[in-house]
Amino acid sequence: MCGIIGILGKNDVAPSILAGLKRLEYRGYDSAGVATVMTGQLDRRRAPGKLSALEAVMEERPLGGPTGIGHTRWATHGAPTKTNAHPHATERVSVVHNGIIENFAELRQELIDNGAVFESETDAEVCPQLITHYLETQNCAPAEAFHNAIKRMRGAFAFAAIFSGEDDLMICARKGSPLAIGHGDGEMYLGSDAYALAPFTNRITYLDEGDWAVIRRAGVDIFDNGGKKVLRPETISSASAGIVEKDGHRHFMAKEIHEQPEVVAHTISRYVDPVSKTIKLPDGAFDFAALDRLTISACGTAFYAGQISKYWFERWAKLPVEVDIASELRYRDVPYTPNGGALFISQSGETADTLAALRDAKSYGQKIAAVINVPESSIARESDIIFPIAAGPEVGVASTKAFTCQLVALACIAIAAGRARGILTLQDEIEIVGALLETPRKLSEALKASGSIEKIAHDIAKAEDILYIGRGVSYPLAMEGALKLKEISYIHAEGYAAGELKHGPIALIDENLPVVVIAPLDAHFEKTVSNMQELMARGGKALLMSCKKGLQQAGDGIWTSIEIPETDNMLAPIVYAVPIQLLAYFTATTKGTDVDQPRNLAKSVTVE
Ligand code: M6R
Repeated sequence: MCGIIGILGKNDVAPSILAGLKRLEYRGYDSAGVATVMTGQLDRRRAPGKLSALEAVMEERPLGGPTGIGHTRWATHGAPTKTNAHPHATERVSVVHNGIIENFAELRQELIDNGAVFESETDAEVCPQLITHYLETQNCAPAEAFHNAIKRMRGAFAFAAIFSGEDDLMICARKGSPLAIGHGDGEMYLGSDAYALAPFTNRITYLDEGDWAVIRRAGVDIFDNGGKKVLRPETISSASAGIVEKDGHRHFMAKEIHEQPEVVAHTISRYVDPVSKTIKLPDGAFDFAALDRLTISACGTAFYAGQISKYWFERWAKLPVEVDIASELRYRDVPYTPNGGALFISQSGETADTLAALRDAKSYGQKIAAVINVPESSIARESDIIFPIAAGPEVGVASTKAFTCQLVALACIAIAAGRARGILTLQDEIEIVGALLETPRKLSEALKASGSIEKIAHDIAKAEDILYIGRGVSYPLAMEGALKLKEISYIHAEGYAAGELKHGPIALIDENLPVVVIAPLDAHFEKTVSNMQELMARGGKALLMSCKKGLQQAGDGIWTSIEIPETDNMLAPIVYAVPIQLLAYFTATTKGTDVDQPRNLAKSVTVE
């Protein structure tokens, strides 16, 4: 995680660096800093906390200079204090770092033995110290010292460095964490992504794995891992320079929840021909008829979207599917087959665990596809096929609209697979697509329950633990509900298969433990309601989510309920996601937590 920005400008660059950092705050927000070179001298400002704290510091003590780097941090090694905030520096060099240096402890000891004095607890500080070591003890030029230093470091990282006495120099390296170089008019830029650079330029060169680059105002020289000069293409980025606004909502999360009818409709329109009610996938998609196995992998909310889609691929396409969390997939001996495909799901397209799992599957010859929200991301660029979603920028750390859009794209892929494999008839396809086309309207209806959900959230906010249960497609949604609640309200929550309750978790049930029961009126409804009765018989408080008929059929004694529009059974998670998200949102606002930037988290998780 962590966001990096660098500018070789014509005037003082600190204000532009701060503007770029604002666009990178989604990568981490526990401390921030800026360093510049002014008339040959390095200087820096750093502050713990959100970027606003750094802005206040810089208002009091402005930083001049036309050459600078900035950083917004998500702590890995060392608490989020000012001393641990980047840039880390010696008198010779100032460095910002994203990622983890795995062998930092041995390097640090070696440097200390040679007389270096460290001020922070971070792994990152070994980088300026190592560069300084090569500058001073071996009289290396900056580029040589930088290259010598990165050769010594193991791990996944991105670095940017500026040097004292060098007003026209910035050196950077990419190994595992993305970096984009921006070309301006007599100015050059560096950022963790093209979005950060969008206010300055849309002319972007992405560094490849292992590349390092020497940037001057006149241009950039890029070198590969072995030090050979290489050419990387300049592309035109479509990232928008506009700042995403809350549009009158209190939080980005609220705005993003309410955008769902629109963005889900946009995503449907990418895959559905509304006249024939059939699916059209992008060219080059999987040959589903020949596919003998599909491995799906992702993290967090995207993983739960993948788990829901397993039910669709199996029902509609009779395709063997396995879903695993990306951080675990590589540690197994997955029996990949020559005709297998691998599908990765990621909102940001930068999640390090997902990217590593993708590379692993690729090394076994799997055709790689990605359901992705950011088309210029690393995962998109390393995939053979992209299935884009049209969620638009998602700013709130809790994923909401990306989840429902991922579900839409996955449903469309599963339907197409079903047709290609001869499991679904044209009539089946038309019927499922017809139901899918109704989801934007159902989402709008589901949003009308906001007021009643807010009232229920006042009680939920008093709980210390909450369970979510569901069956079939509602089971992964139960886990997604629990994730949503815990990440923004800090209330402990777990999602279970409803039938699993009696195998252990029912021991937790008492009058203080609310249980959210996700029960669309589908084939599993009666069984789920029986599980709910079992917990109510033990004094448990049930919050039932179902349609009007479901609520009528569920019997008495239920603590409270949320009415959801009637939906197609298989597609129900798309609509039931809304009350799940609203419940988490209002519980968090009742508790007064930081909804959009909850503690300890970051929007884009670029460390493993
Ligand atoms: O960008 P990605 O979709 O790859 O992110 C995956 C997870 O980190 C993400 O879904 C995370 O779990 C969210 N904060 C959940 O709301």
